[in-house]
Amino acid sequence: MKFNKLILLVLSAMVNGVLTLNILAVFPYQGKSHFFVFQSYLKELVNRGHNLTVISYFPQKNPIENYHDISLAGKAKILEDVFPIYRSYWGIIQVSLFVTGSGTENCKVMLADENVQNLWKTKAKFDLVVTEMFNSDCTLGLAHVLGAPVVGLTSCNLMPWHYKPFGVQYNPAYVSFMFMEGGTKPTLYQRIERTIFQTYLTTLYKYASQRVDQNTLAQYFDDVPPLEDLSRDVKFMLLYSNFVLNGPNLYPPNIREVGGYHVAEAKPLREDLRKFIEESEHGVIYISFGSMLRATSTPKDKLEAIIGAISELPQRIIWKWEEKTLPGNPKNVYLSNWLPQNDILAHPKVLAFYSHCGMLGTTEAIYHGVPMVGMPVFGDQPLNAAAVEESGLGVQIQVKDLTKENLLEKFKTVLDPAFRSKVKELSKLWHDRPQSAMDSAIYWTEFAARSRNYTFGSPAAIVPLYQYLYLDVFAVLGGLLLVTIYILKTIISMYCRQPQKTKVKTK
Ligand SMILES: *[C@@H]1O[C@H](CO)[C@@H](O)[C@H](O)[C@H]1NC(C)=O
Ligand SMILES: *[C@@H]1O[C@H](CO)[C@@H](O)[C@H](O)[C@H]1NC(C)=O
Repeated sequence: MKFNKLILLVLSAMVNGVLTLNILAVFPYQGKSHFFVFQSYLKELVNRGHNLTVISYFPQKNPIENYHDISLAGKAKILEDVFPIYRSYWGIIQVSLFVTGSGTENCKVMLADENVQNLWKTKAKFDLVVTEMFNSDCTLGLAHVLGAPVVGLTSCNLMPWHYKPFGVQYNPAYVSFMFMEGGTKPTLYQRIERTIFQTYLTTLYKYASQRVDQNTLAQYFDDVPPLEDLSRDVKFMLLYSNFVLNGPNLYPPNIREVGGYHVAEAKPLREDLRKFIEESEHGVIYISFGSMLRATSTPKDKLEAIIGAISELPQRIIWKWEEKTLPGNPKNVYLSNWLPQNDILAHPKVLAFYSHCGMLGTTEAIYHGVPMVGMPVFGDQPLNAAAVEESGLGVQIQVKDLTKENLLEKFKTVLDPAFRSKVKELSKLWHDRPQSAMDSAIYWTEFAARSRNYTFGSPAAIVPLYQYLYLDVFAVLGGLLLVTIYILKTIISMYCRQPQKTKVKTK
């Protein structure tokens, strides 16, 4: 068994020309659901024979060979159960300030860490830096100092400020906007909203994140180029999406869609859960609003709407809920504040998933072919919920429209056997790839190291704006046109007589 694995490793190394890569993995952000995605990728890199040094808030509990933690644990509050369920413009601004603020704070915490400092003090050599690209470009400065090329990772779609450095065109008319409704077919009102918020967010990122991180980096290093420049040098971006769910997007070749690699084989369910599901006569609906939202702070009328709807359904309900009871104590409901989501969704008797549309849960739902009712609240959830509806994986309901009748209607739609069989078909397409999401993520990581002397980024990222917008071309053509008109006018006035004016008699 071990020997076979070794042979496989040597063979793949011979084919790819890569032996062992010495990789620095940097995760300065303390979002638990983010790291949960990356962890499976990091462990797989180790499985394939690479040597990892991992800076994060989540050190391994049991040591793994060739996985060396530099732990930041305890240096920032772990983010869980922090956002109430409501939506507003003010909410988007709060989230944006929180995201950029925590990014700059994370940068300070990381660079002040003694073990991190040892990396540059001992001039540690790495073949590659892999890092989350989310709310800070601080790591890019560190990678520059260590002289290693960078592979970016995400646990969601492209952030609004990452379109420009990768030369991806952002057009509000057909590109889904992360923080807002409308998907790929927004109304005029939604396009105006998007334009204002896209401008706000990219400006905020430049001044409240990149400039602040630049100053933090300058306290430690003399010669870090502008982070705007370093972000254009990122070799590859492994984007946690897939066109089967997220629809067609125009990405340059150094953005690879690798969505789905965190989903593990389903494990057997604990006994009480298994019985609850298997003894259901009409199947089960699973409800979870994730680890970042407090179901217990849901407005009372909204909670009553949900409870009212589920008490009229014949299905049993499994609900991730922080308290021991629900108001009204509806029957047929299994409550728990910790549930093995992936294993539940894998069960064939689980017929629908009512969710806030986090990227993890949405990915698990399409993986197992479970129809969704999506109720987005913040961050990338509106974008994911729009993708759920547009792809046919489910339907969405906005918090403001949540009433018992509306929710029942949505459940009826997704519980329809015809709807479910379309979702199963979509799920088959999700799995139908030339290589698994994990193989693909690993492949492009290793490729980035092999191709470190080359770049495959879009030229759109570096072309000056006046050229991108044709301004110089239009100026030259416009000038030529004016000159031509002037010459023609001169010729006409020189050679042609004024035409005779003839009086028209009207009477
Ligand atoms: C693997 O990483 C550890 C920790 O950074 C380092 O001490 C060790 O030298 C590395 N091994 C190789 C073979 O590069
Ligand atoms: C990149 O170029 C350097 C300098 O020419 C060379 O030594 C190195 O082997 C090249 N790296 C790869 C991965 O081909």
